[in-house]
Amino acid sequence: MDPIQLIQFDTAHQPRAYVNSSVRFHHIFSDADRLQAAKKAGWNVFQFPSEMLLGGDLLSDSGTTTLTAEQVAAMFLGDEAYGSNYGYFKLLESFAEVFGIPQEESEVFLFHQGRAAEHALFTQVGKWGKGMIIPGNGHFDTTQANIECNQMTAVDLFLPELKKSDYHPFKGNMDLERLEALLKEKGDHIPMVYLTITNNTGGGQPVSLENIRAVRKLCDEYGKPLFLDVCRFAENAWFIKNREEQYKNTPIPEIVHETFALCDGFTVSLKKDGLTNMGGALLIKRSSRIIKEHEALLNDLRDHQILTEGHPTYGGMTGRDIMVIAEGLRTVVKEEYLNSRIGQVHAFGEYLEKNNVPVLTPFGGHAVYIDVNRFFEGTKHKPEDFGGVALTALLLLKGVRLCELGAFAFGHWDKEQQKEVLPSNNFVRCAVPRNKYEIQDLLYVADCVIELHKKRHEIPRAVPVHGRELTLRHFKARFELGEIK
Ligand code: F0G
Repeated sequence: MDPIQLIQFDTAHQPRAYVNSSVRFHHIFSDADRLQAAKKAGWNVFQFPSEMLLGGDLLSDSGTTTLTAEQVAAMFLGDEAYGSNYGYFKLLESFAEVFGIPQEESEVFLFHQGRAAEHALFTQVGKWGKGMIIPGNGHFDTTQANIECNQMTAVDLFLPELKKSDYHPFKGNMDLERLEALLKEKGDHIPMVYLTITNNTGGGQPVSLENIRAVRKLCDEYGKPLFLDVCRFAENAWFIKNREEQYKNTPIPEIVHETFALCDGFTVSLKKDGLTNMGGALLIKRSSRIIKEHEALLNDLRDHQILTEGHPTYGGMTGRDIMVIAEGLRTVVKEEYLNSRIGQVHAFGEYLEKNNVPVLTPFGGHAVYIDVNRFFEGTKHKPEDFGGVALTALLLLKGVRLCELGAFAFGHWDKEQQKEVLPSNNFVRCAVPRNKYEIQDLLYVADCVIELHKKRHEIPRAVPVHGRELTLRHFKARFELGEIK
C-alpha cells in the first residue's frame, strides 16, 4: 500500500489558508430587539449597531480585516515616538520590497486613510489650471469628490463590456479608445490619468496588465503622468495571474512589481490590501515628470500633511498601525492567502447565482454585487422605490448587513423637477472582510438573500423621510418602509 497513492482524490471543499487564533462571540438579541434598533436607526444600515449582527457584516471590506498573529506581534513593537518612529523605517522597507520601487526613488507621504491622501494630491493638482479633467477607469466616490471639490471634473471611462452579462476577464479595464479620443481633444486640460485597481465602482472588476501597459503608452505619447489607486493591488495581481495567459507562471510579487513599474505614483487606502484597520499613503516617484514640472509640489504636499495629519513620519497613524501595515503588506501578496480569500468570495457568489439571485459576473475580488433591477424584475418595484435599500433594511433583522450602492447612494433628488435622477448602476454590494468569516457565515447571508428573493413581490418600498436632498445622502438618510403600489 502506497499511502500517497491512496490519498490521490479531489475534495469538494478546500481548507482556508489559516486558522483562528482569537474569536469573538455574538451577543444574543431577539428579532424584536433588532426591529427596535432598525427603526431607531431609520433603517439606515450605517446607523445600525454592529454588535447586533450575526457574522454577516458585509458593509465594507475596508478596515474590517482580522489581523494575523504576526501583525499582532508586530503591533507590540509599535514605537510611539513623535518623529521618525521605528515602524516608519520598517514601512518604507516594506513598500520598497512589496511594490518594487527602491526607497531612493520614492517620495512617500503617510495619511490616516486613502481619502486623506487623495485630498492632499488633488488639492495640489487643482492649482495647476482651470477646467481640468481627470480621466479614469472608474473613480471611487471619495476620489471623484476630492477631484470635484478642487474644481476639476472626474471622467469615468468604463469598458462597455461592464454593462453586458457576457464573460470578459477584465471588465475593470479603461476604455482605451475613449481615453485616446479625450487625450486628443482635451489633452491640454488633462493633468494626469488615474487608474483604479481593482475597479471598485465598476463592480470590483480587475484591470489587466495589458490594459495598464496600454494606458501607460498613451500617457507617454501625450506626455501625461499615470497615477494608480492601488487599494486592492494584490487581488488585482491574482486576477492577472489567473486570467492573463502570459502571467500564469509568474509569481504574484513579480506581477505586483510589473504593475507598479508602470506608474508615476499612487494613492492607497491601506485598509484593504494593507490588511490593516487604519492607514493610507501617497507615493510619487522622484523620476516623475510632475516633480520636474511642478517645483513646489513636494514641499506643498509636506505642508499639507503637517497641517492635517501631523509629522510626515507618522502621518495620522499610531506607531502600532504602522507596524501592522509593514507586516500586512508582506502577507497580502502570498498566493495561498489570495487563493483562499478570492476563492471564498467566489464560492459565496456562485451559491447566490446557483439559487437564482441576479449577481454581477464574473465575480470581482472583494465583493459580490447583487443587480437590484434584475432582482425586482416582474414585481411592481420601480428604481425610485429604492428596493435595494428595503432589501438591506430587512436583512438587518436577520443580523446581516449589506450596502446599497445604486439608485439611492448614487442617485440624487432634483429640487426643480421634484424627482429622482437615477444612476446607471443599481447594486447592493456584499463586501467580504479579509480573514474574518468562514464560508458558513457567508452562506447564511446568501440564504437570507435567497429567501427574500423568493418573497420579492412582498418586499416594501423604502421611503426617505429625511435627507433625500442631501449630498452623500446614503450615510445620513432615514427611511420608513411602505407598501409597494
Ligand atoms: N479608493 C478606492 C478604490 C476605495 O475603495 C476606497 C474606499 C478609497 C479609495 C478611499 O479609501 O476609505 O481609506 O478613505 N473604499 C471603502 C469601500 C470605503 O467600502 O469600498 P479610505
